[in-house]
Amino acid sequence: MAGVTEAMVAQLGKDLGQAKLIDTHAHINVEHFAEDRDAVVERAAQAGLSHIVNMGDSMESSQSSVALTKIYPMVYTGVGIHPEEAHPMTQADEDQLASWGVLPKVVAIGEIGLDYYWEKDGDKRQLQRELFIRQLDLARQLHLPVCVHNREAHGDTMEILRKEGKGIVGVMHCFSGSLEIAQELVKMGWFIGVDGPLTFKNAAKLPEIVQKLPLERIVVETDCPYMAPVPMRGKRNEPAFVYHVAAKLAQLRGESLEKVARQTTANALELYPKLEL
Ligand code: NI
Repeated sequence: MAGVTEAMVAQLGKDLGQAKLIDTHAHINVEHFAEDRDAVVERAAQAGLSHIVNMGDSMESSQSSVALTKIYPMVYTGVGIHPEEAHPMTQADEDQLASWGVLPKVVAIGEIGLDYYWEKDGDKRQLQRELFIRQLDLARQLHLPVCVHNREAHGDTMEILRKEGKGIVGVMHCFSGSLEIAQELVKMGWFIGVDGPLTFKNAAKLPEIVQKLPLERIVVETDCPYMAPVPMRGKRNEPAFVYHVAAKLAQLRGESLEKVARQTTANALELYPKLEL
């Protein structure tokens, strides 16, 4: 893309030394990458990434995401139905998700969860909750971790995880909750996903929260194509830019980038055990 050269990106890879990064949440199957997807994946490798975990958000996008895992060795995927795409899940949908779930490069059920920011209608929110619970059950049956999207639905998301999430671990992606919620998730054995907003001037509580959490529980992600981190803010986001999230995390915690990269990568491998080195 304009403004991002391979030389710039290769410099990011050099800054990491021997350490690697994993973008634990991307959407490179979307149309924003139709023209240059090969180059985007190549730049991710040059920027020091070992893996990209792409996320499906509907049946259709889960299918296209699974297809990418067959093209690119470093790309893995989650499959699932995002709350903004909520519809009554048919048995055929569930069977299809289950048959993808056993593939070696399908590492999670995700992204799933609740979005009360975009959805104000009470009945549709109820549908989101039912769909979320059903996909948690599916993850439990498949012994897969989950990737959870939660926007302005902290109370209901946590209540569902406490009641219906037994035996399941996962990541609260693009974390936007309180320190108390983060600490409860850590106690439950969950991971906290941080991305571009950590680098924003209006990052609110997040910088303080990531300073107080154990580094062993944090994973880094882009959620590309949106929410590009500073200094790429406003541009199309891409997996290579997860470097900037890791660098901000290192700065906030007073640790080296190499240490943060090593630990968050180890965390991603623990979160998603089907990722292969
Ligand atoms: Ni996402």
